[in-house]
Amino acid sequence: MKRILITGALGQLGSEITTSLRRRYGTDNVVITDIRDNTGRELIESGPFYLADCRDGKKLTEIVRSHRIDTIYHLAALLSATAEANPLTAWDLNTAGLLTVLGIALEYSCAVFTPSSIGVFGPTTMKNWTPQDTLQRPTSMYGITKVAGELICDYYNHRYGVDTRGVRYPGLISNVTPPGGGTTDYAVDIYYAAVRKKQYTCFLKGDTYLDMMYMPDAVKAAIEIMEANPEKLRHRNAFNLTAMSFSPEEQAGYIRRYLPEFEIYYEIDPLRQAIANSWPNNMEDYAARVEWGWEPEYDLDAMTRDMLEVLTLRFADETNAGGRNHV
Ligand code: NAD
Ligand code: SER
Repeated sequence: MKRILITGALGQLGSEITTSLRRRYGTDNVVITDIRDNTGRELIESGPFYLADCRDGKKLTEIVRSHRIDTIYHLAALLSATAEANPLTAWDLNTAGLLTVLGIALEYSCAVFTPSSIGVFGPTTMKNWTPQDTLQRPTSMYGITKVAGELICDYYNHRYGVDTRGVRYPGLISNVTPPGGGTTDYAVDIYYAAVRKKQYTCFLKGDTYLDMMYMPDAVKAAIEIMEANPEKLRHRNAFNLTAMSFSPEEQAGYIRRYLPEFEIYYEIDPLRQAIANSWPNNMEDYAARVEWGWEPEYDLDAMTRDMLEVLTLRFADETNAGGRNHV
C-alpha cells in the first residue's frame, strides 16, 4: 500500500487526484498539503491536511517522517499566464519547490510524480505531431521552469536513483475546481458560460489549436504512470501526453450540438495568445502508449457531453429561473 503526500492538493488537478488516490489507497494514506486553506473544505475535513509551503523543507520533512510517506505527487506550481505576470515568483516557486521535494525524496526514498506541460515547447519546435524528443526552447517563464523541472528530475534519477516520473500534460478541462491561471483556461470557462449564459467571449483566436485532456484521463495517467513497471520507462519525466486537439471555434461547434443557440465572441488577450502561439498545435504521445500503456478515454464529443450534463445539473436553478432549456 502506498503512503502518499500531495503538494498543491487544492488546485484544479490536485483536488481530483486527491479524491481518486484516497479512494484507491485509503484516506489516511493520502496526506494533502497546500499553501491555502480557504477552499476545498470537503477535502481538508475528510482526511489528513497540512498548511505548508512546498519550499519549506523542514515542514515537509516532518510530514514525510511522521506519515512514513513513500510517494510524493508534487503539484504546487504557478501556471503559464500567472507565471508570465510574475516571472521571478514563478521561477522561485516552480524550481525551488521541486528541488525541496527532490531533496526530501532522496533522503526518505520516495518516488516523485511531477507534471510537466506542453509549455516546454517553443516557437522553434515542430508545431504538428510534435515528437517526444525534439527542440525545447520555450519563450514563456512557465515553459522555462518546466524544462528545468524535467531535467532536474532526470538528474535525480540517473545521479541518485530517485524514482522520478512525469508527463507533459496538455490543457486540462474539469468541473470540480476552477483552473489556476493558465493559457488553456478558456476551454474550461467556455462550458460554464455556455450553460449559464449561452454565450462566451474567448481570449484566444478562434483558430488557435492546442492539445487538451479531460480531467478523468489526467488523473488516470497520474496513477498509471506511478504504478508502471519502472524498467520500461525510458522517458521517465517528460512523456508527451494528449487526448485531443481543438480550436475555440471547433469546441464551440461541439457545444452547439447540444446547445444550438450557443454563440462565441472573441476579445484577444495578447499575452495569452502569444503563449498559445508558441505551443504545439498537437503532439504525438507514442512513447507513453508504448512504455506504460497510455490510452485516453475521452474525445471532444464525450467530454463536451459530460461537462454540459454536469454543469447543467449544477446550475439548474439558475438556468430554470432564466427560462433556459436543459441539455
Ligand atoms: P492550480 O493553480 O490549480 O493549483 C496549484 C495549487 O498549488 C494551488 O492550490 C495553490 O494554492 C498551490 N500552491 C501555490 N503555491 C504554493 C506553495 N508555495 N506551496 C504549496 N502549494 C502552493 O494548478 P493545477 O492546474 O492543479 O496544476 C498542477 C500541476 O499540473 C502544475 O505543476 C501545473 O504546471 C501542471 N499542469 C497543469 C495543467 C492544467 O491545464 N491545469 C496542464 C499542464 C501541467
Ligand atoms: N494548462 C496549462 C497552462 O495553460 C498548460 O500547462 O498554463
